[in-house]
Amino acid sequence: MRIGSIQLRNPFILAPLAGYTDLPFRLLCQEYGAGLTVSEMISCHGLTYCQPPTIQMLATTPAEQPFSVQLFGAEPGIMGDAAAILSDYHLDIIDINMGCPVRKVIKKGAGCALMRTPELAAQIIRQVVNNTDRPVTVKFRSGWNHQEISAPRFAQMAEDAGAAALTIHARTWSDGFSGQADWQIIRKVKKSVNIPVIGNGDIHSYEDGLRMMAETGCQGVMIGRAALGAPWIFQPQSASPTLATRIAALSRHLELIPQFMDSKRCLGRTKNHAGRYFKGIPGGSIIRQKIYAATSFQELRGQVSTFDI
Ligand SMILES: Cc1cc2nc3c(=O)[nH]c(=O)nc-3n(C[C@H](O)[C@H](O)[C@H](O)COP(=O)(O)O)c2cc1C
Repeated sequence: MRIGSIQLRNPFILAPLAGYTDLPFRLLCQEYGAGLTVSEMISCHGLTYCQPPTIQMLATTPAEQPFSVQLFGAEPGIMGDAAAILSDYHLDIIDINMGCPVRKVIKKGAGCALMRTPELAAQIIRQVVNNTDRPVTVKFRSGWNHQEISAPRFAQMAEDAGAAALTIHARTWSDGFSGQADWQIIRKVKKSVNIPVIGNGDIHSYEDGLRMMAETGCQGVMIGRAALGAPWIFQPQSASPTLATRIAALSRHLELIPQFMDSKRCLGRTKNHAGRYFKGIPGGSIIRQKIYAATSFQELRGQVSTFDI
């Protein structure tokens, strides 16, 4: 699929996951075939104030290509300024978050709250589009709740405002992350616009991704939670990973982390990632206990090298 001028080599995309989709994990997913990776959501205010933690979240490397940066905010002017600042950074696409259900974000009128203020959402998209030469995409949900399923209309608004592609998470704000995603809405969104549509929600395997494209007509699929501890999900025939596959992926992940992050400071995050490689497999809980018991990155890496294949 193509997003504006950017050609994706694979329509399977890694979803933005705050707290998880840092550069080492994104790069790992690209090595396993992900056609596009997206940063964690980045505050437009943090960017315009040049706050160091925000700037760090823009870190990428030439091997991560294509790379999308996701912005969130509720003020069109500041979102436009943030898009202009991004012109100086290596990134291929700017995504706008209009689907985050978290109360702190909603209270400020950002994230999924923008689905209830579509005129404001349109102004934000236009400002971002007018302040960048990169394609702009929008990620949103089915609607606010089951009485307000507004995604097809919202999608048309986003296309009219200049979006180059759309991602629809097939849940409402009121669903949060629970219940089953209703893929029917993806088909309706696809029918309502002429730009590429990426479907998202409850893809648990590569085959699920193919099924979503076949059932809804969407051109791409975005995988979130199921990619954690399972970067091979972006490849065909990845349904039954062996222990060796898991250890090889984690070992590569642990190789990438110190190349791009301070491994001492991100030990907690690293253990959280590492434990996920062994969820739901026989003997997995013993392996996870060893991972969580590690008191340093070196110890964790040493432990992993002793796991029996
Ligand atoms: C821990 C976590 C963090 C997330 N962070 C973001 C984010 O920063 N931006 C965003 O648009 N969506 C975020 N999401 C939503 C995911 O991108 C995705 O839409 C959702 O998890 C549904 O896809 P899945 O069923 O494949 O996980 C997050 C979800 C989770 C579970």
